[in-house]
Amino acid sequence: MRHVILDCDPGIDDALAIFTLLAERDVEILGMCATVGNVPVDTGYHNLRNLAALCGRSDIPVFRGAQLPLVRPYAFDPLVHGEDGLGGVALPESDVPHEVEHAAVATCRLVREAPGNVTWIATGPLTNVALALRLDPTIGEKIDRLVVMGGSTARGNVTPAAEFNVWVDAEAWRVALSSGIRFTMVGLNVTHQVACTLEDYAEIKRMRGKVGQATNRMLSYYEAVYRREGWGEAKLHDVVAVLEAVQPGICGTVPCRVDVETASPLGYGQTLVNDRAAREEANCDVAMAVDAGAVRRRMLSAIASF
Ligand code: RIB
Ligand code: CA
Repeated sequence: MRHVILDCDPGIDDALAIFTLLAERDVEILGMCATVGNVPVDTGYHNLRNLAALCGRSDIPVFRGAQLPLVRPYAFDPLVHGEDGLGGVALPESDVPHEVEHAAVATCRLVREAPGNVTWIATGPLTNVALALRLDPTIGEKIDRLVVMGGSTARGNVTPAAEFNVWVDAEAWRVALSSGIRFTMVGLNVTHQVACTLEDYAEIKRMRGKVGQATNRMLSYYEAVYRREGWGEAKLHDVVAVLEAVQPGICGTVPCRVDVETASPLGYGQTLVNDRAAREEANCDVAMAVDAGAVRRRMLSAIASF
């Protein structure tokens, strides 16, 4: 049984990643945390509660995390995921009592209390991750892997240099990369290879379950934004990271030295990936390939299972 903590910023592709994760049978989800990112943290927290409830998993505790990045200011941009973060798709309201612990505090407690080692998955900015590592650096001893959607071995998607999750909080990436935890980076260089096909969209449209119907409406919004902006197919960024965490090897990874730019105004948030670093200098397993078909098939079967 794999013990998992998810930190995310739902967000439409986060929502698809959550559906994929919650359908996994050999996974015990210790908790899910919302961070500032695609949407303000209160919106992400609200969405996360309702996404869990939609999947019939209100048993999973949900925690609210950082309001702001560690150092930089935060500016919400609804361009990609909409004002509510889910493309205007209203979900039934969860009636689960609210957790009072901050996500960083809860993460440290959940890791300490976990019966075994923990796989930590992050599909948003790493602000909560960095705060938890600063609150209790010893949690790293019980973390098998920190699998992160973020960065890129090539260009970014917010600036030519920076991918969004790093761009929001590059200092948090620096904290996580230097923590000594086994860090797996699933960047744009692989997630840009993963998008639904026309057949996938048709299969989702035929789904009659609540999760499938919500997916159909969120994806329609998301795909229209990508088309309008001229970005090509709607990318399933966060789904790739979740599946690499629960099905190691769905991505091909290479040990690299990764550094993140935090000082340059133009280069802020760039992940500089050295795949020729000496092994003792490597601090990150970087995804360089992905089985896109396996990702799509696993996501579709997960969504259909609810
Ligand atoms: O750059 C893509 C990443 O930023 C994804 O995690 C998406 O949800 C946004 O958070
Ligand atoms: Ca995300």
